[in-house]
Amino acid sequence: MILLTGANGQLGTDFKKILDNKNTEYISTDFTDLDITNIDNVRDFVKGKEISYIINCAAYNNVDKAEEEKEFCYKLNTEAPKNLAIVAKEIGAIFVTYSTDFVFGGEKKSPYTEEDKKNPLCTYAESKSLGEDEVLKIYDKVYVIRTSWVFGMGNNNFNKQVINWSKTRDELNIVDDQVSSPTYSWDLAEYSWDLVKSNQFGLYQLSNDGECSKYDQAKYVLESIGWQGKLGRAKTEDFNLPAKRANYSKISSEKAEKIIGRKMPSWQSGIDRFLLELKGNN
Ligand SMILES: NC(=O)c1ccc[n+]([C@@H]2O[C@H](COP(=O)([O-])OP(=O)(O)OC[C@H]3O[C@@H](n4cnc5c(N)ncnc54)[C@H](OP(=O)(O)O)[C@@H]3O)[C@@H](O)[C@H]2O)c1
Repeated sequence: MILLTGANGQLGTDFKKILDNKNTEYISTDFTDLDITNIDNVRDFVKGKEISYIINCAAYNNVDKAEEEKEFCYKLNTEAPKNLAIVAKEIGAIFVTYSTDFVFGGEKKSPYTEEDKKNPLCTYAESKSLGEDEVLKIYDKVYVIRTSWVFGMGNNNFNKQVINWSKTRDELNIVDDQVSSPTYSWDLAEYSWDLVKSNQFGLYQLSNDGECSKYDQAKYVLESIGWQGKLGRAKTEDFNLPAKRANYSKISSEKAEKIIGRKMPSWQSGIDRFLLELKGNN
């Protein structure tokens, strides 16, 4: 049996759809059913359920608010994955959890690999980086999968935000000095599941193929929906946000793709399919 935690978020929502399509049974939990920051809750929950996989889709993802809510952020991004890894080890289940391109500091100008040195620049990034380290230290039947700029139906995200802004504004300014790649949570869930079945445990990265700035991403979304307004370029420093971000954090998916046997779709393909899904839901 598969246990999904944080299953009502973007990744969790698509994991459920993909497992449904494959007629694979799972137990879906979110914060109200199973608070993963409490290890006793986790231990009690798995009792007698014959769990063979724990897939953790929960996280604290509010990058700027994390600078105010440090304790909560570490609890969810460092302690909770550690709790799940401990319990997975106790019951012999494979553990899958997710991390972020933000563990890198932007020194490179070509895609970061799993071998590259980390340099987290903000609380969120450090909490995820420590979560990776803890989990990999505790247990060997673990997949830690880094991803970037996730968008999907299950929660708010940059694509939805851009679409909302476009409804009320004639002019938008978006930063062009943060580069990574948007990743469709559907692709992330589908490719993760194929990777996880390989039994080749360890640290991996999965993001949609190609790279772009936030400006390029917004431009692609706005052109796709036929917005007639004016899109301008801005710089990160124009917004004075609490959390520091890297200028470049594109991650390479090559290591995972070699095992899975196919390349991740492009970020543009991800956005095309996301917009179709969004249209179908309206
Ligand atoms: N979103 C991104 O741009 C991004 C970028 C890089 C990496 N990632 C990583 O990718 C993974 C999936 O992200 P996502 O965007 O799908 O996340 P998401 O949409 O924010 O979903 C996270 C889920 O976790 C739940 N949750 C919060 N506290 C919990 C608790 N104590 N116990 C159990 N569940 C709890 C949330 O419930 P509530 O909504 O009720 O709080 C939410 O349903 C995460 O590890 C994330 O850090 C995401």
